[in-house]
Amino acid sequence: PPRGSRARNDVAREVRHRLDSFAMSTFLSTHKRTHSCGQPRREHEGQRVVLYGWVQGRRDLGGRIFIDLRDRTGLCQVVFGPDIDAAAHAAADALRSEFCIGIVGTVKLRSASGGRANDKIATGEVEVEASTLEIFSRSDTPPFQIEDDVDTREEIRLKYRYLDLRRPALQKNFQVRSALYRATRDYFHKEQFTEIETPFMVKYTPGGARNFLVPSRLNPAKFYALAESPQIFKQLFMVAGMDRYFQIVRCFRDEDLRLDRQPEFTQIDVEASFITEEDVYSLIEGLMARIWQDVLGVTIPRPFQRMPYAEAMGSYGEDKPDLRNPLRLHDVTKVVAAHSGGGVPLFSQVLSDPAAIIKILRIPAAAAGKISGTETRKLEEQVKGVGARGLGSAKVDPAGSGAAAGWVQSPFAKVITPELRTAINEACGAGPGDLLLFQFGRPKLVNTVLASLRQSLGKRLELIEKGAWRFLWVTEFPMFDAAEGGQWVAAHHPFTSPRPEHVPLLATDPGAVLARAYDLVLNGNEIGGGSIRIHQREVQAQVFAALGLSEDDFRAKFGFLLDAFRYGPPPHGGIAFGVDRLAMLLCQAESLRDVIAFPKTQHGTDLMTECPTPVSEKQLDELFIRVKDGVKAP
Ligand code: AMO
Repeated sequence: PPRGSRARNDVAREVRHRLDSFAMSTFLSTHKRTHSCGQPRREHEGQRVVLYGWVQGRRDLGGRIFIDLRDRTGLCQVVFGPDIDAAAHAAADALRSEFCIGIVGTVKLRSASGGRANDKIATGEVEVEASTLEIFSRSDTPPFQIEDDVDTREEIRLKYRYLDLRRPALQKNFQVRSALYRATRDYFHKEQFTEIETPFMVKYTPGGARNFLVPSRLNPAKFYALAESPQIFKQLFMVAGMDRYFQIVRCFRDEDLRLDRQPEFTQIDVEASFITEEDVYSLIEGLMARIWQDVLGVTIPRPFQRMPYAEAMGSYGEDKPDLRNPLRLHDVTKVVAAHSGGGVPLFSQVLSDPAAIIKILRIPAAAAGKISGTETRKLEEQVKGVGARGLGSAKVDPAGSGAAAGWVQSPFAKVITPELRTAINEACGAGPGDLLLFQFGRPKLVNTVLASLRQSLGKRLELIEKGAWRFLWVTEFPMFDAAEGGQWVAAHHPFTSPRPEHVPLLATDPGAVLARAYDLVLNGNEIGGGSIRIHQREVQAQVFAALGLSEDDFRAKFGFLLDAFRYGPPPHGGIAFGVDRLAMLLCQAESLRDVIAFPKTQHGTDLMTECPTPVSEKQLDELFIRVKDGVKAP
């Protein structure tokens, strides 16, 4: 075909492709990889090596061609020169970023050819003089450089995720994640646990996280749900006498997504028979110690700290406090009430609502010195963003002494009685120079506002303890949360056992029932949660009743579980961990997306495969489904 025609280009491409495949087939069998790119060192000087990898960058200098060759283990400089091998040097002229190649060469000290060592890379003292080059495949110019400090938009990185994954930081994250799996499996096998799989396509049961639904073609107008967790199945394993079960399992939840939530995520799921809370704590502390040892080589102190839910809410305003942050909240409602508002009209107004509380976030003097008056006003704007109406503040007079010190820079300073002021200073341990930030109102709002302020100020004032792993068991959770409309919902899930002494309260005062539930928190992240379960049918029925399910309702939904409990169920309990969150913490990553190979965006989409997609009428027909009139895919 004529030069420049499409047919000629096609022929040329075909020839190149066949030559490439031929070269590859012989090169791979005649030249076995001797080292990975991150390996060559001074002690390999003079050795023949075979390396495979991707071209990171290419420089022409003084008649020689230099490339950095990259694989998952690192980078190595490779040199082509007419004096080294003329054919390889000529072929290297074609090399561009991200070409996939193999080379044969000899390790040399960079200093021997007058070069300088590069102390930024592990192989920086050496280079490989290449005598043979094979190009396995060429690459289009990549949409971004394969480097860790890319400021490419995340959308582009997710669209070309396979290129994003070539970056060393992500390569390392998946090594860590794999090591986490290995340590987990080793640990549970040593502890006589059996790994058993559970179904993903399950019966829809309401009450937990929102489920994804899967239409059944074979059963018109019926749906499976994708399992949000193996909860009921693992309990049935206990009824089945499996005794000690674990599984590394995918779970699916149709929730609104955040940086620490994905619609499909992985759990380390655990259940065991004949155990109490103490057994769970020591088993899991052992697991965490093993993971940290194996993955990071870090020894973590045991036993872990424990804290009742009420204390966590009281002192931190949340049930997953980051204990690396020394800031604390103080509830001064009682103190203010004892002084009948102490002359502050706003306080008296708060006290008139019996459900309202007054809490203070105290910033100790050393840190408070870094916050100017203008900044305090900015904090007020910030908390309005999380729903607060305002933010009260008072600085304890730096010139004052002890708890009797006065307040300055405060709307309360002039009106508050010295007695209440002193009592508040005492209640929150405040001394001269400290800054007190006030929030009043319903507990939920007060806690949300102060917890978020505590976190952001802790970071900004650099109060977070560095390099620490602060594990915490949060215990004594309430059994139920009040939902809108006065309905009770299970705080953990409806299979969680109430404390035995609280069973009578199920019928009379559900809000007062405490559960045998626990969460494991690490540096402010809920990494796991579980409970000792109900194993008596009657108690399970009472819990369903407290949740407002009629007997017919819960028979229809959970009849199989109640039936199973007729046949000698053992006492049992368990826990599940968010593997993605654990991996994120172990990798010190910012987002779950950095430890999931093909993650979904905030909108639940995959930008690479462009999913979800509309489907054809025919497919919908087969499933007996019609998209509602007027609803169109965007
Ligand atoms: P729970 O719902 O608390 O408990 O889940 C356990 C752990 O899973 C992680 N997790 C998530 N991680 C990423 N994205 C999500 N959308 C997501 N949702 C939860 C969290 C959480 O602590 N069956 C019970 C456990 C039990 O009782 O044994 C359960 O699933 O780290």
